[in-house]
Amino acid sequence: MRIGVPLETQAYETRVAATPETVKKFITSGHTVVIQSGAGTASSQPDSAYEAVGAKIGSASDALGAELVLKVRAPNSNELAQMQNNAVLLGMLDPFDNANNAAMAAKGITAFALEAAPRTTRAQSLDVLSSQANIAGYKAVMVAANEYQRFMPMLMTAAGTVKAARILILGAGVAGLQAIATAKRLGAVIEASDVRPAAKEQIESLGAKFVDVPYETDEEREIAKGVGGYARPMPASWMQRQAALVAERAKQADIVIATALIPGRKAPTLLHAETVQQMKPGSVVVDLAAGKGENGAGNCPLTETDKVVIKHGVKLVGYTNLASMVSADASALYARNLMDFMKLIINPEAQLAIPTDDDIVTACLMCQSGQVIRQNA
Ligand code: NAI
Repeated sequence: MRIGVPLETQAYETRVAATPETVKKFITSGHTVVIQSGAGTASSQPDSAYEAVGAKIGSASDALGAELVLKVRAPNSNELAQMQNNAVLLGMLDPFDNANNAAMAAKGITAFALEAAPRTTRAQSLDVLSSQANIAGYKAVMVAANEYQRFMPMLMTAAGTVKAARILILGAGVAGLQAIATAKRLGAVIEASDVRPAAKEQIESLGAKFVDVPYETDEEREIAKGVGGYARPMPASWMQRQAALVAERAKQADIVIATALIPGRKAPTLLHAETVQQMKPGSVVVDLAAGKGENGAGNCPLTETDKVVIKHGVKLVGYTNLASMVSADASALYARNLMDFMKLIINPEAQLAIPTDDDIVTACLMCQSGQVIRQNA
């Protein structure tokens, strides 16, 4: 097949959907590859690195006009207009965006949103949410350390002792667990909260303390188990008890890293404005749910998307592109995720062969032959 890799156009997006490593494998398998000039530059992959493995360098319309287009983000209307009517598209296409699904269907393309893959063992190697959240969790700690005006580790010096930073992590999924592991290596003292009971053991195994909000009813216990590995919105009673405990812990913390998400829903509000007001001056909040919470905020209503703001003496970081800030490795892992997905829809003769009975393929399929396949409520 002719595979195209365009330059990403969304603001702050520096990743690329294929690297010389994956392109080389595509070419060995019998495909041809056209890379838009400059597509890999922000990920430290110059055009020459792609040319060296046999790719052609072309324009945006060359890359977008391919039979199979590999992207990071969903195409905008201008990009969609440059695609062929029967093209196949792979990317992080935001499966819950009905308008986008409809626009792609109207164009006639077959689109796969990899975020929709099930959280099963077989899907692990193509799990884009995990590969990118892992990086975001790491970078969140790096950003926090940079914004925080004190040390992370405890230090005993001739000029006196410096206390270790106290970090509170809200949401211990892939990003939160990596944030714990990274902060631990820097010497911080860490506490973490999650709604899913399975998170307790994972938090403790990384050397952090679990902030326990006991379940008081069978309903709370049942909802907390989540579905498909994901959290569900908790009843208001549990959220209130959690908010009180988070407020108490946040007052003692120097850094809060919030990562709580619920797929297809607004991110929950976990760090209330009144709590931020009571935090120590100079504290830092890194809100990975920025832009996904109520009113476009994050897990904290004071977060402003893609900005660092100071409110009540607390620095709030609302970057939405943390994985893009580690673009070389983020692209390398993402490109391998895409390559693993392609193995499911391309046969050994390098021809498209979309199976109808593969749970990963059907979960990711957003539209096909002009029809919207995934319709969200
Ligand atoms: P996510 O990005 O959707 O959410 C992040 C975290 O926020 C989750 O741990 C969630 O429980 C938590 N959260 C939601 N509401 C909360 C609240 N009110 N208070 C505190 N925390 C809250 O989740 P992510 O990181 O994509 O994955 C979640 C889980 O999925 C993993 O921990 C794992 O169990 C499972 N998973 C399974 C995989 C597999 O088997 N292939 C791969 C990756 C994840």
